[in-house]
Amino acid sequence: MKLKALILAAGEGTRMRSILPKVFHEVAGIPILFRTIHAISPLTEEIAVILGKGFEKSSERVKAVFPDTFIFQQKKRLGTGHAVRSALPFYNDFEGFILILPGDLPLLTTDSISEFVSKSKREKADCAILGFRPENPAGYGRIVTNGNTFSAIVEERDASPEERKIHLVNTGIYLFRANYLREHIHSIGNQNEQNEYYLTDLPAILAQKGFNVKVFTAEDPTDFLGVNNRRQLADADSAALERKKQKLMLSGVTILNPELVRIEEDVKIEPDTTVFGPVHLFGTTSILENCVIHPGAVIRDSIIKKGCEIKPHSVITESVIEDGCTVGPMAHLRPGTILKAKVKVGNFVETKKALLHKGVKASHLSYLGDTEIGEESNIGAGTITCNYDGEKKHRTEIGKHVFIGSDSQLVAPVSVGDDAYVGAGSTITKDVPSCSLAISRAKQTVIRDWPKKKGKKCNQS
Ligand code: UD1
Ligand code: CA
Repeated sequence: MKLKALILAAGEGTRMRSILPKVFHEVAGIPILFRTIHAISPLTEEIAVILGKGFEKSSERVKAVFPDTFIFQQKKRLGTGHAVRSALPFYNDFEGFILILPGDLPLLTTDSISEFVSKSKREKADCAILGFRPENPAGYGRIVTNGNTFSAIVEERDASPEERKIHLVNTGIYLFRANYLREHIHSIGNQNEQNEYYLTDLPAILAQKGFNVKVFTAEDPTDFLGVNNRRQLADADSAALERKKQKLMLSGVTILNPELVRIEEDVKIEPDTTVFGPVHLFGTTSILENCVIHPGAVIRDSIIKKGCEIKPHSVITESVIEDGCTVGPMAHLRPGTILKAKVKVGNFVETKKALLHKGVKASHLSYLGDTEIGEESNIGAGTITCNYDGEKKHRTEIGKHVFIGSDSQLVAPVSVGDDAYVGAGSTITKDVPSCSLAISRAKQTVIRDWPKKKGKKCNQS
């Protein structure tokens, strides 16, 4: 059976009260519309999306991620039936079936759609409607049947008190034989409470003309939870995260206090890694095996390789951490940080565009920005790379096996050669050659009996 899919995503999304079109709000880190496209892509090659609000920007966003989708514009928001009319060229010469879906169902799965399509095929439906039974049917179109025969879909606003009692509701997902869709889409009127052209009227029109219209009921109602407002957005987000965590746990990841853990859709975690909630893992973060992620960690778009320990309250963004590193507690790794194997970054250390080679230790209270530090070097407590002169950023290059004493400032651009030492409390403004000691603090003076001379008490005398 030849199949094309059409996603309706031009609605105003008024109930979201947002400048951003509804379908671009994110669920588990992925725009709602993109989740729908992912779910149906394995079933059909040709997908069209109908966009409305902020058309130029919206279509650019879709094209950037799904360059092969067809995009249509619904110039005025006159209802779902009118939206389908805006995409007529997509199915005008097509002899197959058109799957129509709303763009606001973020929990759709490939399996549930695939099952619906197979059932429709088996029953030789000219038009099939996918219904479901949510816990609370409020807000959904009710599917009115007469025994086993479909009679109509009635929107809640237009439903009688009797019809409102019906629990079987419309998911907004339909399959139409393309030729019947194009022949009858113009028969839809707008005689309803909203004066909109409702796509939901088309199945009844086809049924009255004697075509084979079927209703199928989906099993898992969670798949079809729609997002119309931010309450439903949060519910959908929680449900998507729940599925994600479930999958990871069954694949061998330990997640403790799971209700306090956010792991977005594209995050990857390997078995035998432990995540102690509360933890937030965003974007394309990937964590390999045998890591421990402690409470309060917030990690975005980063790679953490094998056997690392991320201690409490560390924030890591767009960084790469190689095998066996320890980070934190309370470390801040900003974009462009690369820690090679077995690096230790301790508490209150901030890094940015910093490459720390194997075995480097920066255990306490440092700012390391725009820098490269060679193997096995030790960065003392309170070391600061002064990378900014008020106008430009400059680099600090530190060699291998270097010892930087505590409370040192390295005023960039500056370099410290291999096996060199910097004395504690130094302000380094000139390059330090390898195998040398640089020290820039004032010599210590001792004045004996100074307190006494000042008339102060002194126990020793
Ligand atoms: C719709 C159905 C309802 C069903 C519910 C399932 C209609 C009339 N009603 O109601 O039976 O139970 O979905 O979630 O279809 N859209 C456009 N252009 C428009 C209007 C809407 O493209 O002019 C798009 C929206 O972006 C959205 C989808 O169509 O993705 C559904 O529209 P929405 O306003 O959310 O309809 P519901 O009230 O949820
Ligand atoms: Ca909706």
